[in-house]
Amino acid sequence: MSTVFPSATRVVSGMRSTGRLHLGHYHGVLKNWLRLQNEYDCFFFIADWHALTTHYEDPRVIAQSVRDMVIDWLAVGINPQNATLFVQSDVPQHAELHLLLSMITPLGWLERVPTFKDQQEKLRERDLATYGFLGYPLLQSADILAYRAAYVPVGEDQVSHIELCREVARRFNHLYGREPDFLEKAEEALRIMGRKAAKAYKELRETYLERGDKEALETARALVERQANMTMGDKERLLGYLEGHGRLILVEPQALLTPQSRMPGLDGQKMSKSYGNVIGLREDPDVLAKKVKTMPTDPARKRRTDVGNPELCPVWPFHEVYSSEETQAWVREGCTTAGIGCLQCKQPVIDAMVAELAPIRERARDLEGDTGRIRTVLAEGARRAREAADETLQDVRRAMGLAWE
Ligand code: TRP
Ligand code: SF4
Repeated sequence: MSTVFPSATRVVSGMRSTGRLHLGHYHGVLKNWLRLQNEYDCFFFIADWHALTTHYEDPRVIAQSVRDMVIDWLAVGINPQNATLFVQSDVPQHAELHLLLSMITPLGWLERVPTFKDQQEKLRERDLATYGFLGYPLLQSADILAYRAAYVPVGEDQVSHIELCREVARRFNHLYGREPDFLEKAEEALRIMGRKAAKAYKELRETYLERGDKEALETARALVERQANMTMGDKERLLGYLEGHGRLILVEPQALLTPQSRMPGLDGQKMSKSYGNVIGLREDPDVLAKKVKTMPTDPARKRRTDVGNPELCPVWPFHEVYSSEETQAWVREGCTTAGIGCLQCKQPVIDAMVAELAPIRERARDLEGDTGRIRTVLAEGARRAREAADETLQDVRRAMGLAWE
């Protein structure tokens, strides 16, 4: 019998394959994953089905991003020995659970998830009035519930999705899990059976649950089926009780809020592809330098001789991430007295970024030429993921009346 609560230590998270990763991902999500992979049983996957919900017109972008993404994960140090890395569409159990959960999820729950309307408005250039897009957070729920995960590291914007996931799990357990008075009802049914049969039932049940003796299970099942004066409900109760279910099948996960990334973009807004203000994880050093050199600065510093204020300059947050106290003092002093020029001020940031990305670029370059390695990592990850997810799916199918054999 599969365990219902495998580990209070399981973590699941996904990333949509809609483009290249950048420094914002690294300082936010990936550094967090690097820490989690050493502490928990992590399942990290590339959410290519989720990518399709918004990018269904760009299949080429999705295919290319899957490859790039896994290269980037490995290049920053996500370790397939520690974490299970896979592609969502390689694990059909996610889709199956999504379908099954769709049967019990009220439409209103999905329509009320705030990201549904928000994203439709934000991504006006795409037609997101689709069935798939409405189901986005339910597919995400399936991603998580399939592994009975305890924790889901996500950003603030995803909290409403985890909330929905918890509600769906609760509803599922309410519909198919243990009835509140299950034990009393089972005892009652046993009395109807008569003393002798009840005693045999209890012994066979114990033999099965303690020793996994399949023959005892079959004998007990036959015994229950033979009862002529018993209702269908009672028979089902006793059949369920035999295997120890009539219990919680899905686990409500908790969000693990990813610490807000301090990585700003090149324009002072949050670093994000949609703002076009990013530095890629594999950015060429010359391009990187050029991007930083052409960044806007404190608008008051029109000329080299004008004084500025770092607090009003988009370059300053980069110094906060990358520069020592000493360098920061040099910037503050030089900027407010016009002692240094802006290009001079930017140089330590450029140097620090180039140094940070150098080993990542190098590992990524090796991986780009090693298709075999990528394929092996993802195949092995998918195998482990399917095995874990199918344990849950077996219970779900049975609970929903789909195990007809
Ligand atoms: N919706 C998430 C995002 O946009 C990606 C995602 C898909 C996910 N499935 C998940 C995150 C399951 C955590 C768990 O960031
Ligand atoms: Fe910004 Fe540095 Fe120029 Fe000051 S000196 S305005 S902090 S880039």
